[in-house]
Amino acid sequence: MSEPQITAVAGDTRPLSGKTALVTGSSSGIGRAMAVALATAGADVHLHTRSNLRGMAEVRQQLQAIGAGGRDFQFDLAEQASSETFVKAVDESGPVDIWINNAGVDVLTGAAANLSFDEKLAALWAVDVRATMSLSRLIGTKMVARGSGTIINIGWDQAEVGMEGDSGQMFATVKGAVMAFTRSLARTLAPKVRVNCIAPGWIRTKWSGEASDYWDRRAKSEALLDRWGTPQDVAAAVVFLASPAASFITGHTLPVNGGFAGAFTEPRNLHGES
Ligand SMILES: NC(=O)c1ccc[n+]([C@@H]2O[C@H](COP(=O)([O-])OP(=O)(O)OC[C@H]3O[C@@H](n4cnc5c(N)ncnc54)[C@H](OP(=O)(O)O)[C@@H]3O)[C@@H](O)[C@H]2O)c1
Repeated sequence: MSEPQITAVAGDTRPLSGKTALVTGSSSGIGRAMAVALATAGADVHLHTRSNLRGMAEVRQQLQAIGAGGRDFQFDLAEQASSETFVKAVDESGPVDIWINNAGVDVLTGAAANLSFDEKLAALWAVDVRATMSLSRLIGTKMVARGSGTIINIGWDQAEVGMEGDSGQMFATVKGAVMAFTRSLARTLAPKVRVNCIAPGWIRTKWSGEASDYWDRRAKSEALLDRWGTPQDVAAAVVFLASPAASFITGHTLPVNGGFAGAFTEPRNLHGES
């Protein structure tokens, strides 16, 4: 049997030229960095927000400056029917090659931080889990029919090891479900469509900007590389997983966490956080 042709991947600065990507929750934070990185890698990028139209317009301006096309979408993914309407609207504007389920409910800052445990869990479940599943199933079916595509979900590195407290219990359950779903969907959609997951560690976004000294020390200490991650760190992994360089990778969860160094040993209940 002849060897498969080896195509150069190193040095290809626009590995996603000619591709169309969609990033859910791309008005801010990690999703925004993903949109910019995908566009820089040559893709046209569809953006999505629930309510941050201003943030999405800023990202669109950045993408236009790079020369990337794409459309803007607004859907509240907590509404069960929205997934179908969303995928239909995207599909009407042409095929999507790369679908990133990045949207996730922020239950740590703003008014949502005051919700009960059950209310936070319900909100996370509706968006991070149910919408990720229904969007992936809908777009995955279309990708299989077209013969190619890739889906990337967002988990959390500590879902594998567990973390104490309310946030640990909620996020480990919700993001652990996303990671489990990724493995099963990869089996379902293979061999035409690849499905992977990125499991970020502590990434400097809105929440970390408000983090206490305790969390600042903890985030750095839990990474072997002794720093917070950046949205760009996660975005670089998304570009890799979406690119031809990752064409033999599916069903995988890639931690982007600086190497988990083990749980911080300073007791957290001294700091009045859940
Ligand atoms: N930051 C970290 O340390 C960390 C670690 C592990 C995993 N993650 C995950 O990474 C992803 C991005 O997080 P981030 O830190 O960048 O947070 P972020 O800036 O708050 O972005 C979250 C995005 O999700 C969207 N979203 C929230 N609720 C929604 C809903 N009901 N319907 C549709 N979209 C909704 C937001 O919509 P708007 O555009 O309307 O604001 C926003 O665009 C999330 O899945 C998060 O769980 C983050």
